[in-house]
Amino acid sequence: MAKQRSVLVVGTGTIGEPLIGLLSVMREQAGIDEIIFHKNSPRLEDRPRINQLVQKGAKLAVDEEKVGQFKQLGILPTYSKLEALERAAVVIDCTPKGTGRKNKKELYEKFEKSALGFIAQGSEFGFGKMYVHGVNDEALAHGKDKYIQVVSCNTHNLAVLVHTLALAEGRDNLKAGRFVCMRRDSDISQESESVSSPEVGDHGDERFGTHHARDAFHLFQTLELDLNLFSSAIVLNTQYMHTIWFDLQLKRPTTLEKIRQRLEENPRIAVTHKHSANLIFSFGRDHGYYGRILSNTVVALPSLHLSQEGTELRGFCFTPQDGNSLLSSVAATLWFLSPGDYTERLSSLSPFFYKEI
Ligand SMILES: NC(=O)c1ccc[n+]([C@@H]2O[C@H](COP(=O)([O-])OP(=O)(O)OC[C@H]3O[C@@H](n4cnc5c(N)ncnc54)[C@H](OP(=O)(O)O)[C@@H]3O)[C@@H](O)[C@H]2O)c1
Repeated sequence: MAKQRSVLVVGTGTIGEPLIGLLSVMREQAGIDEIIFHKNSPRLEDRPRINQLVQKGAKLAVDEEKVGQFKQLGILPTYSKLEALERAAVVIDCTPKGTGRKNKKELYEKFEKSALGFIAQGSEFGFGKMYVHGVNDEALAHGKDKYIQVVSCNTHNLAVLVHTLALAEGRDNLKAGRFVCMRRDSDISQESESVSSPEVGDHGDERFGTHHARDAFHLFQTLELDLNLFSSAIVLNTQYMHTIWFDLQLKRPTTLEKIRQRLEENPRIAVTHKHSANLIFSFGRDHGYYGRILSNTVVALPSLHLSQEGTELRGFCFTPQDGNSLLSSVAATLWFLSPGDYTERLSSLSPFFYKEI
């Protein structure tokens, strides 16, 4: 009998929760037999979230030794974590701060033979091949790449800018890319402390500044490109959206008309005439999936500035903080399951790709 095409999501936080919902809703079209999610901590306040996900058709898995604690809360798990791992064709780890890498060593490697693949998120540098849907799909090799790291949301944003606005005119067209990532503080879904005023970040990486440019560099290395990238980061006292200032130094002169056309042609890029992150966020809340915009970036058209020589493009864009990671996570999952037609199977998400916001 053919193995179940089960997908296991580990973690029910800012990324995990909407991902479980999204996969549950598109399960049939995606050709997935069952969605399982692993919840780590048995907490009363998390009960409504678990119930909602179960109502959407997802099945709960917990650590064997915590089954009793979940039952005491009136929550009945379907599987133990190990049973879930045995069933899973694809595992998507949505835990933070190195937990995904730890899980890889302690758990996932034991299931390498039975599973098609494992995916982790932005914080898990070194987990596997870096990936942004629409940027380096051609670098994924079936049967060879068992581990994929979906890079962080800001890395998605700067990677898609480089890919669309510089490299589309030739692999050697980017002389340098400079980025300032202005990060919102804690997500509205999180209780962690907020900052009371802008807090600048260190340039901890001697070559790339912050992890954003470093990760984008490694992402493009999967396409055998060696790019000159540097990023800085600052946390702002807003909970709404990340904003990025970019400066792309190009080899070949271009025009603003061409730039706008490139942005228009990429279905995973949205543009806006708005200037305020509040308004973009609000659009996502009203029209997005779980309030998420699945586009890789929202480019503020009025902010674009091209040097007189046509070789230096500057501007601002907004990062749909977890929407772009959700899209790449679903794309990587479907690539593991159905490499021949995963892009068609993704098409049920196209209503959430906006061209204009
Ligand atoms: N937040 C964003 O906007 C965003 C955007 C793009 C990418 N990412 C990336 O997504 C990943 C997750 O971030 P997040 O913001 O979603 O984190 P989060 O909201 O803090 O959620 C973390 C989840 O991981 C679970 N968890 C923690 N330790 C665990 C363990 N040892 N075993 C199993 N589960 C465990 C937690 O479960 P319990 O609460 O039940 O313990 C929680 O459900 C990170 O790599 C991050 O870089 C985040």
